[in-house]
Amino acid sequence: MDSRTTTLALFAFGATALTTSLVKLKSRIALSRAKHRSLGGHARLSRRIAALIPFYEYDEARFFCSDDPPEDIAAARQAGFMQLAKLYAERFPETMRLTGSVKDAISDLQFTDTYRVPFQFRHMVQRHLGAPAFVQSSAGVTLTDVDGNQFHDLTGSYGVNLLGNDFYKGCIARAVERAGELGPVLGSYHPVVADNVARLRAISGLDEVSFHMSGTEAVMQAVRLARYHTRRTHLVRFCGAYHGWWGDVQPGIGNPLPAHETYTLKEMSEASLRVLRSRRDIACVLVNPLQALHPNASPPADSALIDSARGARFDRQAYADWLKQLRAACDENGIVLIMDDVFLGFRIAPAGSQEYFGVRADMVTYGKTLGGGLPVGVLCGRKELMKRYRDDRPLDMCFARGTFNAHPYVMAAMNEFLRHLDTPEAHAMYSGLDAVWNARADALNHRLRESHLPVRIANLSSIWTVIYTEPSRYNWMFQFYLRAEGLALSWIGTGRLIFSLNYTDADFAAVADRFVAAAETMKRDGFWWHDPAATNKSIKRRVLREIVAHRFGRG
Ligand SMILES: Cc1ncc(COP(=O)(O)O)c(C=O)c1O
Repeated sequence: MDSRTTTLALFAFGATALTTSLVKLKSRIALSRAKHRSLGGHARLSRRIAALIPFYEYDEARFFCSDDPPEDIAAARQAGFMQLAKLYAERFPETMRLTGSVKDAISDLQFTDTYRVPFQFRHMVQRHLGAPAFVQSSAGVTLTDVDGNQFHDLTGSYGVNLLGNDFYKGCIARAVERAGELGPVLGSYHPVVADNVARLRAISGLDEVSFHMSGTEAVMQAVRLARYHTRRTHLVRFCGAYHGWWGDVQPGIGNPLPAHETYTLKEMSEASLRVLRSRRDIACVLVNPLQALHPNASPPADSALIDSARGARFDRQAYADWLKQLRAACDENGIVLIMDDVFLGFRIAPAGSQEYFGVRADMVTYGKTLGGGLPVGVLCGRKELMKRYRDDRPLDMCFARGTFNAHPYVMAAMNEFLRHLDTPEAHAMYSGLDAVWNARADALNHRLRESHLPVRIANLSSIWTVIYTEPSRYNWMFQFYLRAEGLALSWIGTGRLIFSLNYTDADFAAVADRFVAAAETMKRDGFWWHDPAATNKSIKRRVLREIVAHRFGRG
């Protein structure tokens, strides 16, 4: 090679390297633009920041005046809190005793009990209000604890309880009868599986079905298959969306390992669509349509309520439009669209989110209520995506099995649920469903407004979240007032109230009365007093200053 050729070769090499770097940079910038500005949108950063935040807590005096109220307000808060503590001790003695007796031995209980309120308030709450964890029975829309107290059930059993606990008791009892002859025989199928498969295919509009033990597993399998068939590495999930507790779908706080093959993008964003259209490493996109109630925000737990910034508003048309754009972007770039309907599934329409929002997915995951009260996860998908091996490469397979998959009792309970969906009663229930729940939410909001209470409801059909209209550091206390009024919530508190669809107008009226009464007592006890100059921002800044002071030993 003469020197001219060498120079030309070097130039060509340099130009290629530069072009490659520029392309990479462009794609990196596009990815950054598609991240939500919150910490939830930055998994790695959020984990780093979480590791820096020190524990500190308020002593008994500070507990009631973290926002510097006048003395009489602090005294009213303290008196109200102690009154609640007395009521809990008198009303729930056996429930508390039983909870205390196992708490040290059940790690899940320790976890939920710890993340019920912002950590600065944790110990006082644990000491005086506890977290009664035992219930004895259910009937209609109520739960009864081991002390005989009856509560209206707003826990929704994590979303499983769609049709009322009695309905699922019936499913399980009939399932035991139908599958009892076979018993817990695994590996082969009970005949009821054939009917389930036919019904699931009709509901999902997809070709094949696989059975799993939980929603988490169904999501794992969907993503694994999408990677296998596209031969691409990455999954896309949207900021804030929950898809179970498997590492790849939980890249931020809560997972000790970074999820290297996960992109967390902004939902309802053109910048995200651009990334989906242009990158070559994306195998699939996971959508949890429950996020339509609060796009890009994490599931609304009271432990994060340090101010009143929690927002929520459901816009069905806007979310349907987004899903259509998402569908088109996935089609353009050969990306598998996975609708995670584990939670929302049968709650909004008999054929789930695909029907409700008018969009078709390549794969759909179901779970929760579909099991007829027993644990389940289901994946439905297009034939070419569900195949677990290649005909021309016998050792190239995508493995998935599970000891308890398609358990006869679960399959029979599922069949009870699925057959119910075909009854005139179920059809009638779905028609006008949103109108019923929107009217109920409106009616309660009207009462709250008329009573000058700083609380409102936002809802996606029968899934409700409580929002707070004035800046406060104490909104998380509301869950304890609601309990005192006989309303049972799940451990994330007022962030999610889940109604079963067997709530009658009279049942709902009772809930509304209790809800308003709880808010009135909390207001009377001074927990919603606020400095007229306070804003959510000023509250956040103040908490941040506390954190910094404790971090550097000045707290
Ligand atoms: C949308 C969604 N996907 C997956 C899961 C995980 O399901 P499971 O708890 O059955 O593993 C959940 C659970 O809440 C969910 O809401």
